[in-house]
Amino acid sequence: MRVLGIETSCDETAASVVDATGVLSDVVYTQTVHEQYLGVVPELASRAHAEKITAVVRAALDQAGVETPDAVCATSGPGLIGAVLVGLSFGKSLAAGWGVPFVGVNHLEGHLLSPLLESSQPAFPFLGLVVSGGHTTLYRADALGDYTTLATTVDDAAGEAYDKVARVLGLGYPGGPVIDRLAQDGDPKAIRFPRPKAQGLDWSFSGLKTAVRNHAHKNPDTRPEDLAASFQAAVVDVLIDRAVRGAKKTGIRTLALSGGVAANSELRARISACPELDVYLPARSRCTDNGAMIANAGRLRLVAGQRDELDVSARPGWSLDTLPIPGAP
Ligand code: KG4
Ligand code: ZN
Repeated sequence: MRVLGIETSCDETAASVVDATGVLSDVVYTQTVHEQYLGVVPELASRAHAEKITAVVRAALDQAGVETPDAVCATSGPGLIGAVLVGLSFGKSLAAGWGVPFVGVNHLEGHLLSPLLESSQPAFPFLGLVVSGGHTTLYRADALGDYTTLATTVDDAAGEAYDKVARVLGLGYPGGPVIDRLAQDGDPKAIRFPRPKAQGLDWSFSGLKTAVRNHAHKNPDTRPEDLAASFQAAVVDVLIDRAVRGAKKTGIRTLALSGGVAANSELRARISACPELDVYLPARSRCTDNGAMIANAGRLRLVAGQRDELDVSARPGWSLDTLPIPGAP
């Protein structure tokens, strides 16, 4: 079954075709209009998606050598509602025109299952650590669609902390890749930033962001490389700490890491070396938003028998704990 997946929930217009053998095409257009505002402007994102969607989907079909796919999937939430609506409406129209099945995909499930696109894949049950610009959540994944939240952030997401720290340091947007690069020439022990604790397994990142800002203001001569490396060390420490505690609590040591922050070189290296965990990672290019992860999650649901009506609506706050479980009564 060749499945077209469409993703437009934030600032990437993306489309991909996958089948049982893997990814046949993967086209991602990252919107640049937001850079001057140091963050995503929702209305500009919707307009840019509407401008690019036809060309991006056309390119994904052409690169896969597919004229008419066997099914279409599109992100239907969570995300910016105007942005989600562009890809969702486009995908539903294509499915109606071609007369093929349609499935609306949860963006977080796309991330969570993205390690399944690799040759070495985690098997259920596993822990899923989704670390992106909008979410930082540890899930217990028992089966397709059967997910339980074990820990989440009480304030900022980890990617959001990267973006805010980059803004404070005048490094532009998005902050993750630039801090990742700077940190490679910095000393992670130069400044001991707090390792923020919240209730139970939860995270809190807003205090860390404030600590970095205060340090930078009081000590303007600190090397940006050292600030970046010390901030990153604190983020990676708390992400790994909760993952290990989650593994101890559940007795599940298989961990699938995903989301934009999973592209971080320090996090990838340190979590992979963690003796308490068996870690599965998506390719770096499949950590940030892409169409292949949506096509993959949608394909697994189609294979399990799911078909959505074409009146499926955009769900900007759609949580992973309330997903349909294919085949469940
Ligand atoms: O998953 P994603 O593309 O979008 C959301 O669903 O939010 O994640 C984007 C986030 C941004 O906050 C960006 O700064 C962060 O991922 N990011 C990184 C890296 N690459 C992207 N954070 C740390 N290190 C990176 N290399
Ligand atoms: Zn995402």
